[in-house]
Amino acid sequence: MSGVAHARPAVSVRLWEGDNVAVLDGLAKEGVKVELAYLDPPFYTQRLHLRTVRRGRGATLEREQVAAFDDRWPSFESYLDATEARIVRVRELLADVGSMVLHVDSTTSHYLKVMCDRIFGRDAFASEIIWRYRRWPAKTLNFQRVHDVLLRYVKAPKMAPRFNQLYEPLAPSTIATWGRTKQLAAFGADGRRVRSTRTEAASPGVPMGDVWEIGVIAPIARERTGYPTQKPEALLRRVVESLSNPGDTVLDPYCGSGTTLAVAAALGRNAIGIDASAEALTVTRARLSGAGQSVILSKLDATRMAADA
Ligand SMILES: C[S@@+](CC[C@H](N)C(=O)[O-])C[C@H]1O[C@@H](n2cnc3c(N)ncnc32)[C@H](O)[C@@H]1O
Repeated sequence: MSGVAHARPAVSVRLWEGDNVAVLDGLAKEGVKVELAYLDPPFYTQRLHLRTVRRGRGATLEREQVAAFDDRWPSFESYLDATEARIVRVRELLADVGSMVLHVDSTTSHYLKVMCDRIFGRDAFASEIIWRYRRWPAKTLNFQRVHDVLLRYVKAPKMAPRFNQLYEPLAPSTIATWGRTKQLAAFGADGRRVRSTRTEAASPGVPMGDVWEIGVIAPIARERTGYPTQKPEALLRRVVESLSNPGDTVLDPYCGSGTTLAVAAALGRNAIGIDASAEALTVTRARLSGAGQSVILSKLDATRMAADA
């Protein structure tokens, strides 16, 4: 250890309170472009989602439930229409190298896949990532639901998008057969694959697949905010690291407890978050200021309200 402190690159985090349609329109008028947009909209649960607020400690600890956001809709069509209006606007804000990641579950994923194919073009579809998690089994006469779906679309299919290769560990069987060094694919004179050749270089692992096994947030985890549907930082780290570079801008128009913004800022990306829920904004501001990150807070009327320290 040299003892030299490495300063974190200065990034800007803008937080908007209000309906994301109006804010996205405002950002488009400002000429804002983002390299990555991550959308984690309501999942059509037809429920009012509550946040657990803890007051006091130890023997005086009290828990109170307050409304966080409403996911009740008059019809499935109204849900799809509302989501479409947001996706169309997000696409307009993407830089040419940019991509959108839409995080949903199997309740809506097939409808939204077809919708996004229409909005972006089928050739702009890049990946369907399955986030597989483990959780307490539900009482159901069915297979347990243990995955979410992340649909990724690029803005300009003919252009190389932002993409940083991530790796996962080598399989035990690979290590047993080949060890931990890099293998080079080899081809015979007829162009067919022949046995790979071993190199001396250490293998970085296997290029990351599209099934991600990441744990849900543990009840006592430090990152837990009590905000309903909060996503794990480890999941967002993968999304942000692979699909943006330091200095880029990451947009989350349904930012909730601010997971994307916190991860993006920690990784040296600028971030823009939007949420209609005052509860979400309270949680996000506390989370970012706890991480030493200043936030520019704006309201829907486009009046910049304050710069939090
Ligand atoms: C699934 S939660 C996002 C959770 C977030 N990814 C996290 O890790 O905490 C969806 C969020 O979208 C917000 N939301 C729903 N409709 C909105 C709209 N029209 N405009 C802005 N925010 C909206 C809700 O208030 C809620 O906080």
